[in-house]
Amino acid sequence: MVAILFVCLGNICRSPTAEGVFRDLCESLGWGEQIRIDSAGTGDWHVGHPPDSRAIAAAARRGIDLSLLRARQVRVADFKEFDFVMAMDSSNFRDLALLQPQDSAAELSRWLSWAGSTAPADVPDPYYGSDGGFEEVLDLIEDASRGFLTHLVSTGKIVAS
Ligand code: 4NP
Repeated sequence: MVAILFVCLGNICRSPTAEGVFRDLCESLGWGEQIRIDSAGTGDWHVGHPPDSRAIAAAARRGIDLSLLRARQVRVADFKEFDFVMAMDSSNFRDLALLQPQDSAAELSRWLSWAGSTAPADVPDPYYGSDGGFEEVLDLIEDASRGFLTHLVSTGKIVAS
């Protein structure tokens, strides 16, 4: 089983969206049993809260239910429990790099480093923006999800059936 943790700032917009999109993709291919997926925030303001209603609505339009997810804060132990820690933007990446213990084998990367070459470096924070921002977040996350899943299959971490 490969374990993947998605991390943003608040764990109510981008990382729960990534959690839902990537889980949906894995399950649609019948590979859900081979993967553990979770998400967390570097901040603690929204701990225990469901995703932002705009994130829930945007994902629902693509057939993905985020409504049961609840925010939590990232913890040092996550770097022992997860094989991959995916930062939604460069600021999250820097915060996570400071938190990662020396003896952690987790692979920390920016999520969009797995997307196509035209993708930006960071998933833009949609919290203070318009609803359209949530569509862009979904498009970018879907792009990276395909790229990362291809990586998992090509490196044998997922066995394609
Ligand atoms: P997220 O978005 O990191 O994608 O969950 C944000 C959510 C809340 C805040 C900032 C970003 N906030 O400042 O409360």
